[in-house]
Amino acid sequence: MAKISPSILAADLSHLAEATHALEKAKADFIHIDVMDGHFVPALTFGEQVTEAIAKNTKIPLDVHLMVATPEREVPKYFALKPEFITFHYEATTAPIRLANEIRKHGIKPGLALNPRTPISALVDLMPSFDLILFMSIEPGYYGQKFIESSWQRLDQLKLLKEREHALGHRIEIEIDGGVTNQNCRDIVSKGVDILVSGSYLFQGDMMERIETLRGGK
Ligand code: DX5
Ligand code: ZN
Repeated sequence: MAKISPSILAADLSHLAEATHALEKAKADFIHIDVMDGHFVPALTFGEQVTEAIAKNTKIPLDVHLMVATPEREVPKYFALKPEFITFHYEATTAPIRLANEIRKHGIKPGLALNPRTPISALVDLMPSFDLILFMSIEPGYYGQKFIESSWQRLDQLKLLKEREHALGHRIEIEIDGGVTNQNCRDIVSKGVDILVSGSYLFQGDMMERIETLRGGK
């Protein structure tokens, strides 16, 4: 069964407490926090202060996705909030292993996000240092975009890398982000994906029902 990480960016941002409450009721596994800095991606969303406000209001573990140009500077701002994952982008740093180790030192699971144009082979030597790979099935920057079709063959390649890690005893997880709906969730899960991020699909309908649909891969 897939775990579900609703992207709170797609909620009504003037009613964050209501959105969080709906996620509690619907038993979301995580809350996906899309931090955008206006540099790595054109849009600017929220940072550690809004994330802290969300954290204070819920027991659901946070899944922080940093779309920022300077992860070395931004990552430490989230340590005190004790999220489940802090994920930064492969494309944004020259020292991903050092940063992953720093996150791990704080008892938080490090995640590495990969843009659709970055070859999966970039991950080969990095997988052992991370607990999570965040596979982007859209170009980051906005919710509500369409799932990129070439993701399917990239997911096949990623599945092989994951299986190799598992064979070595490293239980790395795969998360997918972008354009996930009831139409493609089943096929996505069959590619070995463990965690589904979803924004527009979940927040534009009955939360409880839609989380169940994604979770069951129906
Ligand atoms: C995009 C964000 C995603 C986005 C997902 O840059 O990282 O998490 O909010 O939204 P949907 O599910 O609508 O593609
Ligand atoms: Zn995201």
